[in-house]
Amino acid sequence: MTEKTIINVGLLGMGTVGTGVVKLLTANGPSIARKTGLPINVKTILVRNLEKHRALAATTKLTASFEDILNDADIDIVVELMGGEDPAKDYMLRAMKSGKHVITANKDAVAKYGKELYAAAEENQVDFLFEASVGGGIPIIRPLKQCLAANEISEVMGIVNGTTNYMLTKMTQEGVDFASVLAEAQAKGYAESDPTADVGGLDAARKAAILASIAFGTRVSIDDVHTEGITSITPEDIAYAKELGFVIKLLAIAKDTPEGIDVRVHPSFIPVSHPLASVNDVYNAIYVRGDAVGETMFYGRGAGEMPTASAVVADIIDAARDIYHGCSGRILCTCFNQKNFLTPEQTESPYYIRLLVEDKPGVLAAIAGAFGAQQVSLHSVIQKRKVDACSELVLLTYKVSDANIRLAMSTIGGMSVVSQIRGVIRVVGQ
Ligand code: NAP
Ligand code: HSE
Repeated sequence: MTEKTIINVGLLGMGTVGTGVVKLLTANGPSIARKTGLPINVKTILVRNLEKHRALAATTKLTASFEDILNDADIDIVVELMGGEDPAKDYMLRAMKSGKHVITANKDAVAKYGKELYAAAEENQVDFLFEASVGGGIPIIRPLKQCLAANEISEVMGIVNGTTNYMLTKMTQEGVDFASVLAEAQAKGYAESDPTADVGGLDAARKAAILASIAFGTRVSIDDVHTEGITSITPEDIAYAKELGFVIKLLAIAKDTPEGIDVRVHPSFIPVSHPLASVNDVYNAIYVRGDAVGETMFYGRGAGEMPTASAVVADIIDAARDIYHGCSGRILCTCFNQKNFLTPEQTESPYYIRLLVEDKPGVLAAIAGAFGAQQVSLHSVIQKRKVDACSELVLLTYKVSDANIRLAMSTIGGMSVVSQIRGVIRVVGQ
């Protein structure tokens, strides 16, 4: 048992999430103190721009120098909420080397430097916790590392980016255009400071890498994740999805099969009856299949000030409890395996394809022939409408390997009768 009478926190960053953390520790301070055994005090806050945060200086020590936190022996826990890879990673490593516990919501740093950060935690016997890095307010890291630890996990699949789910929901339900709905998501504090990571799928890919590493016990880096974002999704694709009984969602999918693992992020047509189809707005949902537990699902707000603060403060409480009981650094890296990745020849799904083609006899037969040459079997072909002098074709395929669809689309893209490939989207969960 510790002799401490208070747990001091050094907070790095006072943006959307940092503000939520201070609010939550203030609002629920007395009950949190009872849960941990000790009161938690935010002693110092690091920001870039002291002037911007001047109002805070009356109640808390503000600094623009990380050394003020690093060299303060009274600070037990460093909470990193700045974002980005650098200097966040460097600050976290230095904090751990000086014996401080580290908590972060930063998936960029965890996905890229998780191994190094865990090694530093192990070496220094400190806690390294990052619940908020995936799924915002949804508990998912702790369930995977603790509650489901007895299982062999074979699949993790879900919606893990709040910004794009918010955008796709608004585009589907209200027909709002891409740019204005992105601005709305930024204003609500869901999007990253550079939203290209959200709309380009990278934010979800980082989360998929973190989830797969923990779920399958093998290191999955961002380069191992096949990543496609939502920038090419148009109102036409959304309308066709609706007409065909689907919705479009950006899914993160990680599978562990006897042949190898597959980790991917891409927009997907999912049937309206699928459980993930009704996960809307900023909500995230993550489905996990374990050999003992079967199917489980985690659902909640995936971004935003207070939901994310909920996960960060839970980590602070966990670390405080460990400090109180003198048992820090209990649950560290679990990447004990080295698994192979499936190749594009080994991964398959049905596809939705939208083409603009010349409107003349023989075109459909030529296109069907090109698909057939790559073993792509067509489920349905609908000639939808005229676009200028062309016809728009909407096709659904049966299951086909990623390698074969790429070859087929490359041939079709080069055909003189095809003026444009307007959409190629996987169908999931049929
Ligand atoms: P944010 O609003 O952009 O705030 C970042 C804060 O960090 C600001 O206070 C900024 O200081 C400070 N900062 C940035 N770089 C700094 C540096 N080099 N030195 C000192 N201070 C620095 O970010 P956020 O949305 O709160 O996100 C924080 C982290 O949580 C990110 O890793 C993000 O991915 C993660 N996260 C966010 C959400 C969400 O919904 N927003 C959800 C889950 C996870 P100034 O104020 O002086 O500029
Ligand atoms: N930008 C992220 C999202 C924040 O929209 O999900 C949560 O990580």
